[in-house]
Amino acid sequence: MDWFVKAFLKASLLWLVLGVSLGVAMAAHPVWTVHRTAHMHIVLLGFVTMMIFGVAYHVIPRFTGHPLHSRRAAVWHWWASNVGLVLMVGGFMTRAYAWRYGTPLRATGGALSAIGAYTFAYLAWRTIDGTASLRAAERRASELASNARGSGARLPLASVQSTREQS
Ligand code: HEM
Ligand code: HEM
Repeated sequence: MDWFVKAFLKASLLWLVLGVSLGVAMAAHPVWTVHRTAHMHIVLLGFVTMMIFGVAYHVIPRFTGHPLHSRRAAVWHWWASNVGLVLMVGGFMTRAYAWRYGTPLRATGGALSAIGAYTFAYLAWRTIDGTASLRAAERRASELASNARGSGARLPLASVQSTREQS
């Protein structure tokens, strides 16, 4: 498992612990429900989406047979999403006390989180498509397989694999 996948999964678990703790705090002390939006974004953006990002970076390349479009961009994504969420939550919480920097903090964090989400959408999309050479290899392999089926011959698996490796 790639380290950035583990980092997304572990970040997700930490956000879950933080989010439910704030939830319990709000349940016990209703005045703190001023932090409802912070709680909500911690559990939804922190726990739910980070878990999805991590699992998706692991399974999409395996489902499609295409390597992840850019591992480096996935690492940048982790930083953008997590630093973004820290700032966003800070902004949500301090706005509740009318701190004048609450709004710019939330806006900066929100923009970083959004950049993270756009990066994910782009990377997942490009990974699903694969490169032109991989697509050509897949086409050739399926043509070979269907020709072999049509002629009744059994196609050795090694020839399909070597076609993929050549391209
Ligand atoms: C131990 C776990 C949790 C506790 C004790 C808890 C507690 C709370 C409390 C007290 C509120 C404020 C309700 C109000 O405004 O009066 C709230 C809101 C909310 N919570 Fe949680 N929560 C927990 C886990 C979660 C999880 C896991 C999620 C989502 C994955 C979640 C999503 C939300 C959402 C979306 C709201 C806003 C609801 C609204 O404004 O209508 N919570 N939660
Ligand atoms: C870049 C990411 C995001 C940004 C910048 C953002 C920002 C915001 C802001 C500024 C609000 C209004 C808060 C207020 O009333 O003061 C809001 C509300 C809300 N957001 Fe997000 N959000 C983001 C992602 C998400 C995601 C991924 C989810 C769910 C999966 C979500 C669910 C909600 C919900 C349910 C509300 C309504 C809260 C309520 O009025 O009770 N947001 N968001």
